[in-house]
Amino acid sequence: MTDPEPGSPSITQAYRDRGVTFDDLVADDPAMKKVIADARRAAGSDASVLLFGESGTGKNLLAQAIHNGSRRNGKPLIAANCAAFAETLLESELFGHEKGAFTGADRQKRGVFELADGGTLFLDEIGELSRSAQAKILRAVEYKEFERVGGEKTLRTDIRIVFATNRDLAEAVRGGEFREDLFHRIHEFKIEIPPLRRRRGDVEGLARRYLRECNATLGTRLDGFSDDALRALLDFDWPGNARRLRAVIRRACAIADGTRVEVSDLDLSDPLGIKVVEAAASSAAAADLALEDWQLATVERRHIERVMAYTKGNKSEAARILDIARTTLDRKLAGYGIGDDSGGDRP
Ligand SMILES: Nc1ncnc2c1ncn2[C@@H]1O[C@H](COP(=O)(O)OP(=O)(O)OP(=O)(O)O)[C@@H](O)[C@H]1O
Ligand SMILES: [Mg+2]
Repeated sequence: MTDPEPGSPSITQAYRDRGVTFDDLVADDPAMKKVIADARRAAGSDASVLLFGESGTGKNLLAQAIHNGSRRNGKPLIAANCAAFAETLLESELFGHEKGAFTGADRQKRGVFELADGGTLFLDEIGELSRSAQAKILRAVEYKEFERVGGEKTLRTDIRIVFATNRDLAEAVRGGEFREDLFHRIHEFKIEIPPLRRRRGDVEGLARRYLRECNATLGTRLDGFSDDALRALLDFDWPGNARRLRAVIRRACAIADGTRVEVSDLDLSDPLGIKVVEAAASSAAAADLALEDWQLATVERRHIERVMAYTKGNKSEAARILDIARTTLDRKLAGYGIGDDSGGDRP
């Protein structure tokens, strides 16, 4: 797959420059129209919002639209991935620390609860917090007050929190991995984004959206899909959801040599061994696991996202931590669509 020229504009970059609005989300399917209607109502209130959906269903994108559609637009939208930080760093990332609070704390640092003051805090992958971390954020979530690590002064923050998870938190509560008090606190306004296979009415619109995006970034001039190609897209089950669809279209654009995308340009094969995993997942023991969580590529993508969040987007630093070549990292970032779209950690 050919990567876009570094720095070339893309539709998603344009979102970032002017801010994602609800109108930027493809929502042709009635199920997605309902999601958008709910999200608009949530945006108009100041309630905490919980976005629930499989990986790649658009939780990051929706969080941005909610912020921009709220009275808090123009104020910061700060995102933190709860799974991105080691337990010891998490507290300081969330609440900040005072100078000298611990070894290496050579200056005062503000955490995301403080940075988001006046605006929106997007707490992603909330289901991955350890129980002790859950205890630590409960008060901040409930009363919007906290102390910096090593600090004595109680700070107050005026924020709306948008949580996101792809985990069934009720199940996690039953299994003892998620605190019930926090569970109730974050369920003020739950919005479930159905997987793409359950809102097939969005497939064509998304495919055309991504085709236009590819034409802009790859310099291609494709004007659509052959009937067979469109049918193949509509029939596919879309593990990985919109993110996978985007990758399939980008690849197709890179290899298509006519004026439209043919079915032979679409890689809907099973490079990740999904079918093998599907067979395993249908066994009783595995029935509770989401298929995506089995895939090595999912684990790799999440790990890279975490490291990129940790290095605040510094690729050289991330490559060093991952112990891979910078060019390898660039390839993987492009392949997973990290950093060049709104799928990254930072809005
Ligand atoms: N309704 C939509 N319209 C347009 N683009 C979408 C839509 N839903 C998702 N996308 C695109 O799909 C990709 C994945 O979306 P996003 O990163 O928001 O998913 P996510 O649910 O946060 O995934 P994860 O759980 O892995 O973090 C992005 O490129 C996003 O722009
Ligand atoms: Mg996300």
